Amino acid sequence: MMKRSHHCAQLRTADIGAAVSLSGWVDSIRDHGGIIFIDLRDRKGVTQFKFDPKSNAELGARAGRLRPESVASVAGKVVARPEGTVNAAMPTGEVEVNAAELEILNMSETPPFPLDDEGGDRVNEDLRLTYRYLDLRRPKMRRNLAVRHRATKSIRDYFDSQEFIEVETPVLFKSTPEGAREYIVPSRIHAGQFYALSQSPQQFKQILMVAGVERYFQIARCFRDEDLRTDRQMEFTQVDVEASFVDREDIYALFEGMLKKLWKDVLGADIPTPFPRMPYAEAMNRFGVDKPDLRFGFELRDLSETFRASKFKLFQATVASGGAVKAINAKGLADLTQGELTALEEVARSLGAKGLAFIKAEGGEWKSPIVKFFSDAERAALTASLGISEGDMIFFAAAPWEKACAILGRIRLEIAALLQKRGKLELRPDDWKFLWVVDFPLMSFDEQEKRYVATHHPFTAPVVEDTGLLDSNPTAVRGQHYDVVLNGTELGGGSIRIHRPDVQKKVFEDVLKIPADMVENRFGYLLRAFAYGAPPHGGIAFGLDRLVALLCGTTSIRDVIAFPKTQKGQDLMTGSPTPVTERQLRELHIAILESERPLA
Ligand code: AMO
Ligand code: AMP
Repeated sequence: MMKRSHHCAQLRTADIGAAVSLSGWVDSIRDHGGIIFIDLRDRKGVTQFKFDPKSNAELGARAGRLRPESVASVAGKVVARPEGTVNAAMPTGEVEVNAAELEILNMSETPPFPLDDEGGDRVNEDLRLTYRYLDLRRPKMRRNLAVRHRATKSIRDYFDSQEFIEVETPVLFKSTPEGAREYIVPSRIHAGQFYALSQSPQQFKQILMVAGVERYFQIARCFRDEDLRTDRQMEFTQVDVEASFVDREDIYALFEGMLKKLWKDVLGADIPTPFPRMPYAEAMNRFGVDKPDLRFGFELRDLSETFRASKFKLFQATVASGGAVKAINAKGLADLTQGELTALEEVARSLGAKGLAFIKAEGGEWKSPIVKFFSDAERAALTASLGISEGDMIFFAAAPWEKACAILGRIRLEIAALLQKRGKLELRPDDWKFLWVVDFPLMSFDEQEKRYVATHHPFTAPVVEDTGLLDSNPTAVRGQHYDVVLNGTELGGGSIRIHRPDVQKKVFEDVLKIPADMVENRFGYLLRAFAYGAPPHGGIAFGLDRLVALLCGTTSIRDVIAFPKTQKGQDLMTGSPTPVTERQLRELHIAILESERPLA
């Protein structure tokens, strides 16, 4: 094989006259009346070669047989491109190479889809995933992988500079069914027993604090059997961190530093710190979600007081039963079509709303199925609170507080999308609006299970002033939990932990009502570890895939994972999951129900 002298983005006018040899893939092949032009591509870029049959007929004929995506080495002499053929858009566009030698290293079949950015974006993602090795040849995907590498390196360097050490924790862990649904792995040696794949290194990192590591981090693979979405994979990566003798302020400063360096290293962007902080209740009240996108307004308003004694029975009854009436002004959206309105109602219904009352301010009047019930005072209060003017569209939700907030929170995002489509709102992806969401309730009441569940996880410490309420009013206790949010995406979350074994045991047994024997079985080792001098500690975990997706300007984390699974949890390239042999099953002491046996 010919040795490469240069890569494909390297040659410039200064190289004219040099004898060079380059290797790569055939990006394109063009026949201009017998003269064959080949663009050769490697991971760095593209260089144009010219094969002139007048100077070497055999060489020209061989070049003519090349197909796109074949692999070749070509040697020749660098020349200036003739006037009028210079390509300013190409770094090597002022020169070309007169080919003198060609070594065909491998021919390629015709790719099933175009490998340029636009062409690849147009095809079905399943096709791209089936031929991922071709998809990853596209410039955009190559760039995404490189950004991921840059980001990971920046993060590692940062924690190293802060004297953290990276420690690997087991992927094969034990089943602790408190969190997301987990993947279980059968043990061959212990018949009928199972490991669980780690959902996060949470318990190990806390144990590392007991072990005196003090400052731990890990780029950790995590596994959760969740319904997959564009921002969720069953197998994903966390930037996982824990530190001892820290409080919330230390964590905020540490991570603002990490993100500042990351944005500088990868994008050259300066992001202002410190980030604003917003209590959970305020985020819900104003934006209807615990991860508000602060790039636009359209804040929710609470009109419960306005409608407490309303003649509109729905609103009056909602307030009387302790619920809330909330409204949002979609400024300038009165031109909403019937189809768009129906779609919004569907969104509201999918979140449990019974309907989506509205007012359209159009033609100098309020068009609405409900304003006929409103008094003059109610109309005046609405106008003042929502700043209603001609061309506006108002939506209402009447429901228990959290639900009313959540419904309009989703409607707010839909409104932003509709206004964007109309060119009335511009959301720049490089408008970075970071914030900390804090003061989450430590517990919430699970209506289905009729018991308290940890909002984040059961290891989060209560805010010190609220500790006294743990017995009397658990949902009023705030947790020392924090989330980092960027442009509507939850990037990460963490907390200061409980480090006293008696408090941790109380949370498990008295608040979460986990039976004592089950606590021993699941968490006994952790409580035992805490009994040997656990330092106060806290930490956080970031979703690396989500971070990189934002850095790459894509909304799907599949675009920043080399080999992701589909929405249905399949790897289309290798064809997993698959059935296994009877012998493997026997070894693992597993029997498949006859009715569920897959076709081999
Ligand atoms: P949490 O469960 O909030 O916290 O996860 C932390 C971050 O991980 C990312 N993430 C995911 N990314 C892709 N696909 C998924 N299925 C997925 N699930 C979570 C999110 C999320 O913010 N041990 C705690 C952290 C701690 O307390 O220190 C934990 O795992 O970006
Ligand atoms: P109705 O009185 O059922 O005809 O409803 C009047 C309007 O209120 C309709 O536009 C419904 O979509 C809407 N609506 C019904 N229930 C709710 C609710 N809980 N919150 C907001 N709007 C609602």
